[in-house]
Amino acid sequence: MTTDENILVLKGIAKRFGDKVALEHVDLQVRRGEVHVLCGENGAGKSTLMNILVGIHSPDGGQIILDGKGVTIADPLIASALGIGMVHQHFTLVPSMSVAENLFLGRHIRRYGIFSDRRAMNERARELIDNYKFALDPEARVSTLSVGQRQRVEILKALAFEAKLLILDEPTAVLTPPEVDELLKVIASLRERGRTVVFITHKLREVKAVSDRVTVLRQGRSISTHITTDVSEEDIARDMVGRDVFLTGREGQPERSFGGAVLELDNVTITNSAGRLILDSIDLEVRAGEVLGIAGVDGNGQTELAEAIAGLMPIQAGSIRLAGDDITADTVAERQAAGLGFVPEDRLDRGLSSDMSIAENMAATNYERYGVLRKGYVDRGRLNAFTEDGIKRFDIRGAKPKIPVGTLSGGNMQKVVLAREFARDPKVLLISQPTRGLDIGASEFVYSQVLSAADKGNGVLLISSELSEIFALSDRIAVIYSGRIMQVLERNEADEETVGILMNGGKRQVA
Ligand SMILES: Nc1ncnc2c1ncn2[C@@H]1O[C@H](COP(=O)(O)OP(=O)(O)O)[C@@H](O)[C@H]1O
Ligand SMILES: [Mg+2]
Repeated sequence: MTTDENILVLKGIAKRFGDKVALEHVDLQVRRGEVHVLCGENGAGKSTLMNILVGIHSPDGGQIILDGKGVTIADPLIASALGIGMVHQHFTLVPSMSVAENLFLGRHIRRYGIFSDRRAMNERARELIDNYKFALDPEARVSTLSVGQRQRVEILKALAFEAKLLILDEPTAVLTPPEVDELLKVIASLRERGRTVVFITHKLREVKAVSDRVTVLRQGRSISTHITTDVSEEDIARDMVGRDVFLTGREGQPERSFGGAVLELDNVTITNSAGRLILDSIDLEVRAGEVLGIAGVDGNGQTELAEAIAGLMPIQAGSIRLAGDDITADTVAERQAAGLGFVPEDRLDRGLSSDMSIAENMAATNYERYGVLRKGYVDRGRLNAFTEDGIKRFDIRGAKPKIPVGTLSGGNMQKVVLAREFARDPKVLLISQPTRGLDIGASEFVYSQVLSAADKGNGVLLISSELSEIFALSDRIAVIYSGRIMQVLERNEADEETVGILMNGGKRQVA
């Protein structure tokens, strides 16, 4: 047993893939019993570094010191034996099997013996679940679980092997806000039990909420390590991006003035096939020059609201007007032609054709506006120029007009949809979860684009479950709960507590 305060020390870790340098030089010290956030933009090297620690990759240089002793972690079994467990970004569970079966799959069998008896296995799983106070049923089939529950199974799987150092690779990227809050509580409880946690995220709120210390990686180098309470969000963002970052939006700006209504919803109502109300008589108005933010916990009708306005989902009652014209019966294409821009929350599914080229995807809603159509034919030269411009302005990495959009990373695919819809300069921009899946540099750019769309006199309807985003960008805030608009507030009179209570149906949070 050592009394070293550091459970893990990394010195000068380097790793390349072919001629791509993923890690140039990383130093990291993780103290025993702390929650240490590792943050950095997409591609900074966070996953590569942690994969080295669990024996998935071997480093090209540097030292790993665990409990005061230099170690070589040649494969994942060695990592487990050393007490290092990792929950990966992509889940590894078998959906057709139960929670208990997944917990004791593979290498765990060695430790606990093969369970010939299903009951014994379920009992052992139950003990583990109770021990960590996770809300899980050992006999439930994994395919029936929510994403948040699956993640808890993954965490438990790592803990079942008595990991003393638990690595969580961007666990919150796939979670809804209430699930994120649950996970943050789980992380805090692991610390109370003396586990050490390395938590990867690039969300500053999460860094602040749960970590003791934070290390920033940028382009394969460790840039800084701070005690979390001693560092501002602005400083962390600057270390991540390498320059000052402004995610402040409209705060402190003078009162703005608006024109007439450009989008009007009157009594918009949707019921599902079972007759349940999904949207209950929605009345809303977005004025020229205004950002109207819709705040709400995911799943309270926001998706249906966006799709109803875009023309993707029929409404049972009510009407929708765009710049004064009734578009209720119009098709998606007619609404686009009338001046509606739409950035859906599920951009990869709804917004792109993945086997078509980036240029073709960029053109999809822009043929007329950019004159890329001449006598019925696409003008390739103009289309490429238009696409190159979008690639540059949105910093879409790895992109060329002719390659299939599906070859880009998720974050970069999202930027293609954003570049396309902002390029249209639509009279009304309907934008859902605009920064979900984007890193800070890209988020800053999206913020500035949303604000400048409004400054140009367009109306923006912003749907977001990130309260900080709603507050940064909105002139007015409408809170949606269970398919109803609870209240519409001027930003100046709204505070996070009031909005949070309305998001919860008007009730104060109960434990
Ligand atoms: N197996 C691999 N082959 C080639 N390049 C890789 C591989 N894994 C990661 N990279 C590259 O290494 C860099 C760091 O990636 P990664 O560690 O996944 O970053 P992060 O987790 O911080 O987003 C990126 O440029 C990525 O494209
Ligand atoms: Mg990663």
